[in-house]
Amino acid sequence: MCGIVGYTGPQSASIPLIEGLRRLEYRGYDSAGIALGTPGKLFIEKKAGKLSNLENALDATLPNVHSGIGHTRWATHGGPTDTNAHPHVDNDEKLAVIHNGIIENYTELRAQLEAKGHKFSSETDTESVAHLLSDLRKEHEGDLTAAMRDAVKALRGSFTLLAIHADKPDVVVGVRRNSPLVVGVGKGENFMASDVAAFIEYTKHAIELGQDEIVTMTPTSIEITDLEGKSVKAKEYEISWDASAAQKGGFAHFMLKEIFEQPKAVADTLIGRLSDNNQILLDELHMSADEIRSLKKITVIACGTAYHAGMVAKYAIEKWAKIPVDVEIASEFRYRDPIIDPSTLIIAISQSGETMDTLMAVRHAKAAGGRVLTICNTNSSTIPRESDAVLYTHAGPEIAVASTKALLTQIIAVYLIGLHLGQVNGSLKDTEVRDLYKELLELPGKIEQILETVEPLRELTRTFAHNNTVLFLGRNIGYPVALEGALKLKELAYIHAEGFAGGELKHGPIALIDQGTPVIAILPAGHEHSLDEKMLSNIQEVKARGARVIVIAEEGAHVEGAEHVIRIPVAPALFQPVLATVPLQVFAYEMAVVRGNDVDQPRNLAKSVTVE
Ligand code: G6P
Repeated sequence: MCGIVGYTGPQSASIPLIEGLRRLEYRGYDSAGIALGTPGKLFIEKKAGKLSNLENALDATLPNVHSGIGHTRWATHGGPTDTNAHPHVDNDEKLAVIHNGIIENYTELRAQLEAKGHKFSSETDTESVAHLLSDLRKEHEGDLTAAMRDAVKALRGSFTLLAIHADKPDVVVGVRRNSPLVVGVGKGENFMASDVAAFIEYTKHAIELGQDEIVTMTPTSIEITDLEGKSVKAKEYEISWDASAAQKGGFAHFMLKEIFEQPKAVADTLIGRLSDNNQILLDELHMSADEIRSLKKITVIACGTAYHAGMVAKYAIEKWAKIPVDVEIASEFRYRDPIIDPSTLIIAISQSGETMDTLMAVRHAKAAGGRVLTICNTNSSTIPRESDAVLYTHAGPEIAVASTKALLTQIIAVYLIGLHLGQVNGSLKDTEVRDLYKELLELPGKIEQILETVEPLRELTRTFAHNNTVLFLGRNIGYPVALEGALKLKELAYIHAEGFAGGELKHGPIALIDQGTPVIAILPAGHEHSLDEKMLSNIQEVKARGARVIVIAEEGAHVEGAEHVIRIPVAPALFQPVLATVPLQVFAYEMAVVRGNDVDQPRNLAKSVTVE
């Protein structure tokens, strides 16, 4: 978390920096600051609260200089105050540093630096780096890159650091270890940022950086070196997202825009995946037919919303490919000695590709001999780079903190993997695969249909806005949908919301039902095991205890006991999550709006959590 941006070039630096921070605000938004490369002494401004507080503080006296660094923060060490906001400076305010991540040995560094006479003003781990760099720069006779190299050797933890010094203000130096940083290559100007969204408006040429690589950029040069000072060849790539994708485009919030982008995101993720002879095309998996046939187990690891896509993977892959699937929260995975061997495929799911819990789980799995396939939405991010194979989703940039379109595309990716594995290992016939793929291609149109009819749902939602508990029920593939519905509501409306498996209700959660408690039930699609009837019984059970019940059901499905029924188009049972999730996203969105919450940047959250 924390968003970082650096600029050097002909523009008045505060413009691309503030613009970049606005695009990165999803990464953290409890304080923001900039350092501008004014010669002699740097110009520093930083403010607690949203970026708008910083903008208000930057008055007309803002220097018109051409380099600088900017930061938007999600606090770890030290509360969100003006003083703890980044940049942090050395004692003569000539050197400034911004940081994303955690410096684990900062207490020890701080003690050493204080003993040498450095005066600290904040409670952050980052400030030690500013003082350390300042000393090292003097030792290296003003060479900030050499100083950064030595500083990195002395640091433990995860970090992206950018630094600037008033004596050579057009030089910005950056480094990354276990935390994201990309370089944007412009014409006569260059950028560094946590994410390409920060500079996509100015350039579509980017360079990805490896671990512990140090970047030294001026308006006309970019030098990448390793910790020994040896030159590293730049890995350039073109950014496929366009700038408009990172704008609200007339919608009140990014989240609403992203909900409405789902038909396209799903369609884009499905493009070109079936050959003329009905084979699922997933060359990215880099697995031979023999390797697929010898798979004994799949373990899916993910966090938050991506974990719910992982749960869908269990139902789909076990059904189609007959391979046992475990799904595990990434932060728990590596701390319990999981059994992994070369016959295990690990599937990591991450929108950002930077979530530290997922990254650490991936590293653990790889070290234990597992093969890792990642489903990711962000090109060249860390998790895909460290995986054996990657299947990119095509959701485009997701800016709202609460994930929507990324989830649906992750589920699509999971289906493609399940169909491919099942086809290759002989559990599915080509004709079955062809028919299921055809059904997948129908999903974008069906999502559109749901979105065309959400208005009454938005009105209905308002009648629930003052409830403090909402329960969600699902069975089978509807269970992850219930969990996701509850997570969205917690994230956005700050309401106590829980998702339960319908059958589990009677084993405890039913005690929560009181007069007027809203319960949203996802009626299972199809009639396998009479699950729909079982859910209808659950609905009667909660209704009898005073619940107000909303049911999400397929068109034509028999429903009883509901105050409201939200109809979704008919689809094969396993594809129901792609449709049933959509009204729940709208429900959570509307609840947040009615309750006056910040939809795109809910309190205490960050989109990409790069600490464990
Ligand atoms: C954070 C976000 C969630 C997201 C989770 C996993 O907690 O607030 O919305 O689902 O991280 O993110 P990832 O980028 O790994 O999918």
